[in-house]
Amino acid sequence: MHQVIELKRVTKAFGSLDRPTVALEDINMSVHEREFVGVVGPSGCGKSTLLRLIIGLTEPTDGEVYYRGRRVQGICEGMAMVFQTFALFPWLTVAENVELGIHGKQFSKDERRTRVLKILELMGLHGFEDAYPRELSGGMKQRVGLARALISDPEVLLMDEPFSSLDPLTATHLREEVLDLWLDPKVAPEAVIMVTHNVEEAVYMADRVIVLTSRPGRIARDIQLIMPRPRDPRSNEIYRLVDEITGIIA
Ligand SMILES: Nc1ncnc2c1ncn2[C@@H]1O[C@H](COP(=O)(O)OP(=O)(O)OP(=O)(O)O)[C@@H](O)[C@H]1O
Ligand SMILES: [Mg+2]
Repeated sequence: MHQVIELKRVTKAFGSLDRPTVALEDINMSVHEREFVGVVGPSGCGKSTLLRLIIGLTEPTDGEVYYRGRRVQGICEGMAMVFQTFALFPWLTVAENVELGIHGKQFSKDERRTRVLKILELMGLHGFEDAYPRELSGGMKQRVGLARALISDPEVLLMDEPFSSLDPLTATHLREEVLDLWLDPKVAPEAVIMVTHNVEEAVYMADRVIVLTSRPGRIARDIQLIMPRPRDPRSNEIYRLVDEITGIIA
């Protein structure tokens, strides 16, 4: 399996040198092609920081992050991120928000429009091009967030608590849709890294679950999930894993 992302001895501290807040400590991990990795851990253990380091929004204090063997320095082309609170611009329409995902790319105006309409169709947002975020439900806002991420055909999709702001039923539907996309070779990124505090969600969706300790976040366990899809969220195997992981975090 080819390695897409690699973190070597990554430590991230904030604050001053004499009184640092160590968010992440000595993280060694890699993500391979066609892997859906879930990252779980208690609040404040550095999950969001981990994603920001991977995409190059922030730099490690120590250690290195590699993308396809090349050191990540500055924001990484080829990756896209989905946020818990959607991060949409309220003054832009759905189409304009989604088009931001290919901002700076060399596409003609026509091609931009075609791409936007195609991805909106795929995300079930056909007909909402000219709507504003305030007119949409939470689930639809997150569809826009996903469309904005996927429009660039990212090789790596990073998701930070993507379903945590949604009501339970909407979250259930959107999880299924994300899994359908993941299993669709025409759309799927090479790798997905999903941060969540929801252990059930991680075990239900991911191929591997990385469990972080409370701050400073270190890798407590790296668990390969060998379960066929579609999975039954009420299966004994899922319950067993949720118990095991919850026990590590608590
Ligand atoms: N820009 C920053 N400046 C200073 N401290 C920061 C910064 N970003 C994160 N931290 C600190 O680093 C630690 C980890 O934060 P992070 O947001 O990565 O955790 P998290 O696991 O995503 O938390 P949550 O579950 O609440 O989303 C926290 O103590 C946080 O206060
Ligand atoms: Mg976070």
